[in-house]
Amino acid sequence: MTADVVFVGGGVIGLSGAWAAARAGLSATVVDPAPGRGSSWVAAGMLAPVTEATFGEEHLVRLLVAAAGRWPDFAADLGSATGTDVGYRPCGMVVVAADPSDRSVIDQLLGYQQRLGLAARRLSGTECRQLVPALAPGVRGGAEMPGDHQVDNRKLVGALLEACGGAGVTFVADRVTAVVTGPDGAARGVHLAAGGDLPAGAVVACAGAATPLLDGVPPGTFPAVRPVKGHVLRLRGPADHPLLERTVRGLVHGRPCYLVPRADGRLVVGATSEERGFDTTVQAGAVHALLDDARTLVPGIDELELEESMAGLRPGSPDNAPFVGWTGVPRLAVATGHYRNGILLTPLTAEGIAAVLTGEPLPPPLDGFGPDRSTPTTAGHVR
Ligand code: GLY
Repeated sequence: MTADVVFVGGGVIGLSGAWAAARAGLSATVVDPAPGRGSSWVAAGMLAPVTEATFGEEHLVRLLVAAAGRWPDFAADLGSATGTDVGYRPCGMVVVAADPSDRSVIDQLLGYQQRLGLAARRLSGTECRQLVPALAPGVRGGAEMPGDHQVDNRKLVGALLEACGGAGVTFVADRVTAVVTGPDGAARGVHLAAGGDLPAGAVVACAGAATPLLDGVPPGTFPAVRPVKGHVLRLRGPADHPLLERTVRGLVHGRPCYLVPRADGRLVVGATSEERGFDTTVQAGAVHALLDDARTLVPGIDELELEESMAGLRPGSPDNAPFVGWTGVPRLAVATGHYRNGILLTPLTAEGIAAVLTGEPLPPPLDGFGPDRSTPTTAGHVR
């Protein structure tokens, strides 16, 4: 049977897109050798449109704030569909500085964030420690972003897999090497690494940083995304006596570091940002630097078990913003380039994918984020 749409890549973007497509009445197939086990698995699950807002990215910030607003309903919908609590935790974020120069950087960013009307307030060192008692005595103050939250990305992956299964999405455990096009140049399926083609009415390329590696289409069809490596650690502490109740993001002598506490006592510590191509090896120096920075901010992590160290690849784009919509190849859509915000952008991207597949325009403010930034929205809908 020919699926209405095949998704190339089963990370949170592909899974949520397939779930949304299935809920819109389309038959969907996801192709991935290990769905949900790539960068979606490595991620920390921060939903931080304000904390990570930076100079010159007003357009992106508006998108990220809108994306954050989708999360409560999305988590509730997934919960209803699967019975899984995905760990959406409206815990807020505290940003802290390790030294005076870090403080000055945070102050400048805070001014920018406040000028944009974002929810952020300056904190003294004492106020930081009142909100987060586990902070080191030397922390120089910072800011509170009360609307920046988190979700447990691994529970999210599990719930999306289950929701897809429940909605009739089929899975093919393989890798796509190429988009297959017909004599009219339109996408009509994909070619699998194991051999053979999988026909489909439309193709959504959502393989993260690997998306531009897909063959079978003219050069330039896919936007320029690149892998940006991030090391992430998982520590484990007692569930009944958590070290942190809120997410902490710090600057430590200029280096960013975050600690995201889970309800079960685990603590996710991240992340490096490295331009090393498709390399996911875990390097001792990166693990050392992350631990060193994290314990500068929260010394109590010394007592926790180091459970896991991994590295994932963010799909970085030239303007740090995602690409969602139809490409110049008819019936071939793309959803990639989510860079540091893949988990945050998941619900809004899924809405966007379902919209274009059913002939609707991209929902605002996603409508400014088409693959060529001029938003082709209806060039090849399935129904
Ligand atoms: N947004 C967190 C990260 O990309 O490391």
